[in-house]
Amino acid sequence: MRHIVGSLPLLASLLAISTGVCSEAAAPSSATTEGDEALYTVQDGNQVDEKTLNGWRTWRALACERCHGAAQEGLVGPSLLESLKYLTKEEFHEVMMNGRIEKGMPPFNTSQMMQKNWEGLYAYLKGRSDGKIKPGRLTAIDKQ
Ligand code: HEC
Repeated sequence: MRHIVGSLPLLASLLAISTGVCSEAAAPSSATTEGDEALYTVQDGNQVDEKTLNGWRTWRALACERCHGAAQEGLVGPSLLESLKYLTKEEFHEVMMNGRIEKGMPPFNTSQMMQKNWEGLYAYLKGRSDGKIKPGRLTAIDKQ
C-alpha cells in the first residue's frame, strides 16, 4: 500500500520530483475522499492500482462509452468528467444500480462485474474527472 496521499496538485508535482535516478517514472499520485485511504493511485497518467484498473475494465466491458463518450466527455449521456465533480460515492452507486431509466440511463445491477467493481469504477472516473488519469488504455502500476 502506497502512502503518498495528496489531493493538492502542487504536492503531487513536488513528489514527482523524486530521486532523479529514474528520469521516466514519476512518483505515484493518489487522491482521497475521506480518511487517508487512497481512492486511486496513478503513475504516469496511465498506470493505476488494481482496484482502479478493474474499474476501467468494467467501464470497457459494459461499454459506457456508447453514451458517455470514449473519454467520458459526454455524448447522449452527460460528461462524466463534470458529473464526478459533484456526485457523491453514494449517489454514484445509486445511479449504477438503479439507472435513471426514464432519462435513458440503464441500470447495471444485474451485472456481476458492476456489483464487484463499482467502487473501482467510481475511483477510475474520479481520476479522469480530476485530470490525473489519462483517457484510453490503462495498465497496472509497474512493480519495482
Ligand atoms: C444507453 C445509454 C447509456 C449507457 C450505456 C450508460 N449511460 Fe450513464 N447516463 C445516460 C444518460 C442519458 C444519463 C443522464 C440521466 C439523467 O438525465 O439524469 C446518464 C447518467 C449517468 C450518470 C449520472 C450523471 C449525473 O450527472 O447525474 C452516471 C454517473 C453515469 N450515467 C455513468 C454511466 C456508467 C459508468 C455507464 C457504464 C456502466 C453508463 N453510464 C452507461 C446514458 C447511458
